[in-house]
Amino acid sequence: MENFVIYNPVKLHFGNGVTGKLGNIAASFGKKAMLVYGKGSVKTNGSYDQAVNSLRSADMDIIEYAGIRPNPVVEDVDEAAQLGRKEGVDMVVAVGGGSVLDSAKYIALTIPVNHSCWDFVVGDKKPREALPMMGVLTLAATGSEMNAVAVVQNNNEKKKMGYGHPLMFPKHSFLDPGFTCSVPKTHTAYGIVDLIAHALEGWFGDGDASLTDKFIVSIIREAMEYGPKLMKDLTSYTLRAKIMYAATMALNGMTAQGKRSGDWGTHTIGHSMSVLWDIPHGASLSIAFPAWLSLQKKRIPNRIRTLGSAVFDVHNAEDTIDELKGFFEQLGSPVRLAQAGITTDEKAQEDLLEVMRINKVSGLHHKLSHEDHQYLVSQMF
Ligand code: NZQ
Ligand code: ZN
Repeated sequence: MENFVIYNPVKLHFGNGVTGKLGNIAASFGKKAMLVYGKGSVKTNGSYDQAVNSLRSADMDIIEYAGIRPNPVVEDVDEAAQLGRKEGVDMVVAVGGGSVLDSAKYIALTIPVNHSCWDFVVGDKKPREALPMMGVLTLAATGSEMNAVAVVQNNNEKKKMGYGHPLMFPKHSFLDPGFTCSVPKTHTAYGIVDLIAHALEGWFGDGDASLTDKFIVSIIREAMEYGPKLMKDLTSYTLRAKIMYAATMALNGMTAQGKRSGDWGTHTIGHSMSVLWDIPHGASLSIAFPAWLSLQKKRIPNRIRTLGSAVFDVHNAEDTIDELKGFFEQLGSPVRLAQAGITTDEKAQEDLLEVMRINKVSGLHHKLSHEDHQYLVSQMF
């Protein structure tokens, strides 16, 4: 087991009605909040009204930045940061899914400076300060609510990259599972895939920490037990709560404790699909993970088999991969690009290979070569 530090300063409020606390908490950070949200789902699931009412009842001034896209882009973040700078906001409050929370993290980091958020992402600039950022989560998937990472896409450079810094931890996150009851079937499935993928990135990471492995297995088993039930009962608060809790735990640091790193190669493959075709994040992972496992089955058969024994009660790598793929299919998430509506001609394959090259697709633990990229592409089409 490696040396490690546990540091997670996010104060996470979980349960029915917790967003009512937002206003008083926000008022302790200042007077003027920038409210950031996406394309409008927050206006129909009650989260926007609850957040705004709570802020107003604490006498807060609010300015809004709406329209954050799924797979968020640098331009929107920079535009929002410019607005926040001009308006002199004291904090950033995100209401939405991972894309909105991630954007809000970058906005909070970029308001105090005079350059693009992308300069942080590529390491040209180091952050020295950030405005306080808070999140009201409406989609269970990314874990952004309890980590210091955010992912953003630069379409000019054809890159999608994650970046993390302790200044990017939300100060408070509000998780009311009721807000997630309106998430459609597709994105509910993608969220379950994403949380399982996060646990798997930990499983295939570098280092040996048996208790951490048991946390990982528990998270995957929880998602596998209740995910399919939720798919049949989308408005069940109880099932939404179980999946929301699992998603938060899958990427808040506990699946990495005692290891040198997670792997994250599969996520870099998924990010390439996002750049090229704007595929929803979870859908990109249900396509990428079976292909990645197939590539690794001769290299790390025991690690894959151990996962299969712990999660599916099967006892070889091949069966483990089939079970995982079958589970993703059962949820209705694509396992091939064609199922995500992508034309499967030679040009599309070349385009994907090129974007994978640009994004330096590889794992932190399991490095991927150009030949590996070719194999992965052949498996995903
Ligand atoms: O734009 P709106 O109208 O809000 O609609 C969104 C969007 O279309 C909708 N939605 C959200 N909550 C809803 C809802 N629809 C109905 N009812 C609700 N309650 O769902 C769609 C997808 O939203 P999005 O925020 O894009 O999804 P998700 O939470 O999966 O976030 C994906 C982004 O997070 C990044 C991904 O790369 C991707 O850009 N990730 C962030 C991570 C992190 N910060 O740690 C780690 C992850 O691995 C991931 O990479
Ligand atoms: Zn993910």
